Amino acid sequence: MKKIVISLGGSVLVPSLESNNIGRYVSVLRKLAGRCRVFVVVGGGGEARRYIQVARGLGAGEATADELGIQVTRLNARLLVAGLGDAAYPRVAENYTEAREFALAGKVVVMGGITPAQTTDAVSAVLAESIGADLLINATSVDGIYSADPKKDPAAVRYERLTPEGLLAIITRERMGAGANTVLDIVAGKVVERSGIPLLVLDGRDPENLYRAIVEGTFVGTIVSEEHVSPLPA
Ligand code: UTP
Repeated sequence: MKKIVISLGGSVLVPSLESNNIGRYVSVLRKLAGRCRVFVVVGGGGEARRYIQVARGLGAGEATADELGIQVTRLNARLLVAGLGDAAYPRVAENYTEAREFALAGKVVVMGGITPAQTTDAVSAVLAESIGADLLINATSVDGIYSADPKKDPAAVRYERLTPEGLLAIITRERMGAGANTVLDIVAGKVVERSGIPLLVLDGRDPENLYRAIVEGTFVGTIVSEEHVSPLPA
């Protein structure tokens, strides 16, 4: 079975705690689990950014703020595990070895953040490399990678396809701090480049987009891969 790592933005899975998309993701992930090996890395979203802001206001340094962000990603990950029930390994993996171990049970493996100075995008890319994934999907709150922030710049255009080098060039223009809102963090970009694993960035606000992309091969988004690599599993 093909192995797929899904980086699920916190803003997509838990836009707010009360109106979350966990139930909708649970049904899609359950369907996908019958067709491929699924690994999900959950982000912290707005809640993580709130904790980070409060910590900074208290004089905490960036690494401490990052640690708080990691805790929130793991809380969100636990919510997803709770929703998936028997379909998921019951613990949230806290490192890549654990993720590989948990995968032996044949269930969906869920992770949050790992270490400061990065985001869950980096975790998902390293996890993809570590398990030899066939595809990495970043389900986020925009429908792909744009030439500029589409929420701020009306002239921004979406890239249909980028090479890993092209992706890195875009990422390195942006700045990174705790809670930073960049297209993908630099660690993720570098790992995508060195691993050669195809990356698909799509709009995760509708969980069915994920299903359509993986099972039907239809999506609106950006593919990052060398020209000759087929981005979607057969
Ligand atoms: P996210 O991965 O959620 O960042 O981690 P994000 O870019 O805000 O993603 P969305 O909004 O969920 O899509 C939240 C914060 O947690 C810390 C960082 O401060 C990050 O900004 N974090 C996360 C780490 O320090 N290390 C990690 O491995 C993961």
